[in-house]
Amino acid sequence: MKLLVINGPNLNMLGIREPNIYGKQTFFDLLALLESTAKELAITIDQFQSNHEGAIVDKIQQAYGVYHGIVINPAAYTHTSVAILDALKAVAIPAVEVHISDVDSREDFRKFSYPGLYCEKTIKGQGLDGYRQAIIYLKEKYA
Ligand code: DQA
Repeated sequence: MKLLVINGPNLNMLGIREPNIYGKQTFFDLLALLESTAKELAITIDQFQSNHEGAIVDKIQQAYGVYHGIVINPAAYTHTSVAILDALKAVAIPAVEVHISDVDSREDFRKFSYPGLYCEKTIKGQGLDGYRQAIIYLKEKYA
C-alpha cells in the first residue's frame, strides 16, 4: 500500500511556530514519525510539504493512479481553498484530514474546512499522533 502525506503552509516551522498551540515537536520529528509508522505497518509513505496552494493542487493531481490514500493537513488553506477540495474530488483517492491543534476550540474561522467536505474522516487536536491515526485508519480500511 502506498500513502501520500501532504502538509500545507507553515507546517515546516513546527517546533518553532507557536509551540503553545502546535507543541515542541519539530517537522523533522514528524518526518521520523511517518518513517517509523511506514516501517511498522509495512507500507510506503511519501511526504510532501508546500507553502503554495498550486503546488499542493499539482501534487494531488499527480497522486492519481499512484497512491491508495492521502493524509492531508492543508493548514491555513483548510479554511480557504476550494481548489484543494476540487483536486481531491477530481482524483477521488480516499483521504483523511489531520489538524494538529483542536481547530474547533480556536477562532471561528478555523471551524470550517473546504477539504473536509471531501475527506472521509477528520482528526483534530491529537498532536502529531493524528497523522499516525489517519495512516492506521487508511491501512485498515483500504490495504
Ligand atoms: C492546522 C490548523 C489551521 O487552522 C492552521 O492554519 C494551521 C495548522 C493544524 O494542524 O492544527 O496552519 O491545520
